[in-house]
Amino acid sequence: MIRPAELIQRKRDGEELRADELTELILGYARGDVPDYQMAAFCMAVFFRGLSERETSTLTEAMVASGETIDLGGLLGRKVVDKHSTGGVGDKTSLAVGPIVAACGVPFGKMSGRGLGHTGGTLDKLESIPGFRTELSLDEFVAQVRDVGLAIVGQTADLVPADKLLYGLRDVTATVDQISLISASIMSKKLAAGAQAIVLDVKVGNGAFMKTVEDARRLAETMIAIGNHEGREVTCLLTDMDQPLGAAVGNALEVREARDTIRGHGPADFTELVLTACARLLAYSDLGIDEVEGRRRAEAAVADGSADGAWQRWIEAQGGTHDEDALPAAPVVRTLASPEDGFVSSLSAITVGNAAVHLGAGRRTKEDQIDHAVGIVFHAKRGDQVEQGQPLADVHAATEAAADFAVREVLSAYTVQNVPVRTRPVLLEVVG
Ligand code: URA
Repeated sequence: MIRPAELIQRKRDGEELRADELTELILGYARGDVPDYQMAAFCMAVFFRGLSERETSTLTEAMVASGETIDLGGLLGRKVVDKHSTGGVGDKTSLAVGPIVAACGVPFGKMSGRGLGHTGGTLDKLESIPGFRTELSLDEFVAQVRDVGLAIVGQTADLVPADKLLYGLRDVTATVDQISLISASIMSKKLAAGAQAIVLDVKVGNGAFMKTVEDARRLAETMIAIGNHEGREVTCLLTDMDQPLGAAVGNALEVREARDTIRGHGPADFTELVLTACARLLAYSDLGIDEVEGRRRAEAAVADGSADGAWQRWIEAQGGTHDEDALPAAPVVRTLASPEDGFVSSLSAITVGNAAVHLGAGRRTKEDQIDHAVGIVFHAKRGDQVEQGQPLADVHAATEAAADFAVREVLSAYTVQNVPVRTRPVLLEVVG
């Protein structure tokens, strides 16, 4: 029998824990035998002391062992590809990638998470669609991927229950941004869900959990090592999160933007990331094509409307409506204008993410309810030239007071200077 308080103390003091101890701690937490407060203290000890490579893989394996696993590839008789993002502001990539990949004939079954801290979650975005069910049983999930080609669901209680609990706990205890904890969280879900090839979008910048390219590279290498050890192919795309991705931040607003993008009308940076991820996923699939051909097919699925067809079949299969007028809309929309002439040299993703949480688009405690209608839509981003009085962004808010606050916050996210600025591309580096 382990004593959690002793393990917390030993980790706090920088000791490496034995595999059986760490495994029992995680399984005990998943069973409800280890309380939240001890697990929170343990995560904080890990935050400061880190985990060794061996501990990180034990943690991942223990999380997988906390629940069931599925062999999606075996059940479908196909090679299954999956993607996951480390989390960012305005990151609705899975919503657009899923239908495009499915339209290209590759099954896409994904388990997604909720928002963490200032970053949004795919499930919260999907739940802004009236009627959409994110909680499918494992059987329903597999049947939908087989019949419709696409399903995005929440983690069922059966799959990696330890991560479901830990994810919520880390979110409210400032223990998200730790490389081993993120790696184990992401890879346990990907391994348990049976993907044979995985594309990981590792966000880098002030709105991401990894602030520097060096840290993002270390996170990427840790996740690739875990995946390869388990016989999976893994590629990491290191992508910019110094400014929000695309133009929309906020749940229903992002659903609209994802739909626009698969119809060929998305913002340039978001479209580029979506097509890059699709190309890699298609190259990993059993279609037997390379990335160049993958990109060509992804572009074709957008251009010929088949990606939008896949979107409609998917949303309906999960009980939702694809009528965009049914998406919730905020009662107050306020435009903020540029205070001066110049060039946008930065648009701080973290400031925007926090403003979105204040508006109600994210949670401050585990129990908070999300307002799916609120958020921000940008008209000017890094590199754009603006004139005094020109609209920079629209704030969508529940009340006038919330709008006042968000307008001030979003304005403070902008830096405008009087010389042109070099912008950095959305894709910074590919690892693996
Ligand atoms: N996404 C996850 O699934 N887990 C993390 O810990 C961080 C981002």
